[in-house]
Amino acid sequence: MGGIPTVTVLISGRGSNLINLFNRADGYQIGAVISNSRDAAGITWAREHSIPVTIIERAKFPSLGTFKDALREAVCATTPDFVALAGFMVVLPPSFIEAFPDRLINIHPSLLPKFPGLDTHARAITAGETKHGCTVHCVDSEVDTGAIIARATLELSPGETPASLAERTLKLEHELYPWVVRHLARGKISIRGARIHYSSEVHQEAGERGFQLPADNECV
Ligand code: GRF
Repeated sequence: MGGIPTVTVLISGRGSNLINLFNRADGYQIGAVISNSRDAAGITWAREHSIPVTIIERAKFPSLGTFKDALREAVCATTPDFVALAGFMVVLPPSFIEAFPDRLINIHPSLLPKFPGLDTHARAITAGETKHGCTVHCVDSEVDTGAIIARATLELSPGETPASLAERTLKLEHELYPWVVRHLARGKISIRGARIHYSSEVHQEAGERGFQLPADNECV
């Protein structure tokens, strides 16, 4: 890595995590935005902020495979140090994941491994969970199953609805994601295959901020 590490962010919609990663960028910069939908609100915002945007739409390609190849090539062309998925609704194939070893991450609105996939807030309430939150994790070729980097947790309130829980969880996402990216960019968190390594400073800060790091990971 030379200079300030760059992050390419992949979105499909609203883009609040993209905007928040940009606004809180510290030790990294958002180099590019890639979207699979030209209607994603986050694209308008990115263009207004002079961030290069590439749109790769499924409908423009003859097959799912060629679409996903084009996605990979578009992300490669941005020469990112890290690739951050933020509400990106495409399941990525191994060929994409292998192109960005140890630098491809996602944020998910549940305490993984609980509730991978969609409708996490409603499912957590229905299941009678007392805690919920969000997880930043490495991306592998399954949905929301990659190694967990960090989580942030909240307690469900009486009368919690999926909408109120989504709103409260999103606030936590906006705390957790830039914190993780900042430490990845500084090499204080490093991904080495399925193992995540943390500096002692990261352990301490996580404790202060109420973030949880997986117990079986190494302190370097
Ligand atoms: C967030 O809840 C994120 O955790 C999930 O998709 C949502 C995207 O929201 N993966 P936004 O587009 O960042 O506002």
